[in-house]
Amino acid sequence: MRLSYRIGAAALIILAIILIKRHLDLVQDDARVQSGWSFSSFSAESAADGTSNTNANANANPDTNVNSDSATAPNSDRVSTPKSKPKLTGSDMTNSKDSDAAARPMYETTPIIVPNDRVIVMARLSSEDTSWVSTDLNEWRNVIYTVDDTTATRHTPKNKGREALAYLQYIVDHYDDLPSTIVFIHSHKDGWPGAWHTDTMAYSNVDSIRALQTEFVQRNGYVNLRCQQTPGCPDEIRPFRDPPQFGRTTERVYAQSWIELFNNTDVPEVVGVACCSQFAVSKEQVLKRPLDHYQWFYDWVLNTSLSDDLAAHVMEYSWHIIFGQEAVYCPDAYQCYQDVYGNPYFW
Ligand SMILES: *[C@@H]1O[C@H](CO)[C@@H](O)[C@H](O)[C@H]1NC(C)=O
Ligand SMILES: *[C@@H]1O[C@H](CO)[C@@H](O)[C@H](O)[C@H]1NC(C)=O
Repeated sequence: MRLSYRIGAAALIILAIILIKRHLDLVQDDARVQSGWSFSSFSAESAADGTSNTNANANANPDTNVNSDSATAPNSDRVSTPKSKPKLTGSDMTNSKDSDAAARPMYETTPIIVPNDRVIVMARLSSEDTSWVSTDLNEWRNVIYTVDDTTATRHTPKNKGREALAYLQYIVDHYDDLPSTIVFIHSHKDGWPGAWHTDTMAYSNVDSIRALQTEFVQRNGYVNLRCQQTPGCPDEIRPFRDPPQFGRTTERVYAQSWIELFNNTDVPEVVGVACCSQFAVSKEQVLKRPLDHYQWFYDWVLNTSLSDDLAAHVMEYSWHIIFGQEAVYCPDAYQCYQDVYGNPYFW
């Protein structure tokens, strides 16, 4: 063999060795970074949610959510392959690995999938089992506050205003890192009488949240999860009812509470909204008020001399106003089912 051929062959072999070595380093590097990855506990959820977020407009098909179990499995697989890492890095705003990224062209060609972009916020008593939220609604993140145990990992400072303090605590704590859709629900999974106010055959918050049209939440800003109009609609609260009616205790404290909450005296004549403080809002809607307001509402619930119950009821008939709706928010029930759950006969 001629000398030049030999030299050429040797050069090729050396080149091949260099390439193989590089490749191995890269794989090792991937493995190392991923094992220390702080997002790793979210990855399965992230992937599951990512699938619905990629088609933001075409989203909101209830079937997608109903089949979530089968849909999640392949996603989790995908997440455990090294390939998924760039997706996560792409959304890591504090990215300190920019130089790494530049060295790897695949960072630029992999689509960015936003990690789990929706959350369920809930208040619970320490005696209540809320593990169903993670297992049955695993395509949602959840933030659950224990209201009657200040040693719990997440807790409110006081058991006041029933769910209200927890809802507000979430907004105050996460005002700067809210996901696009935030659902506020109660701790009962389903069944009567505990969850009587939930609008499905089985009174199931799992069924209702799976069917929730998040696209409509984005469009409307605020969505009441109850479409049945009673109790609450069309005119539950008449702050100036004269003479006052026996038993209407919330109504009687509403005007004064309004003045304290909203810093003005434009107390509405009539307030109506389907009951029970289970609703969804968009991040955009929340951000229409400054953080200061939510802190203000929070302090009000915490400090008001009204009872736990009354404070909760005042908030129950204020949430829709806080989130941009008119004082009377009573959409037609069929239209509501269509908009909120994608089916006019949803219940
Ligand atoms: C009410 O006024 C206080 C003090 O001026 C302010 O901090 C707070 O944000 C206001 N709250 C609302 C809801 O406007
Ligand atoms: C109301 O509660 C807040 C805690 O959120 C506290 O800092 C504030 O001093 C309280 N205000 C009054 C008037 O008690």
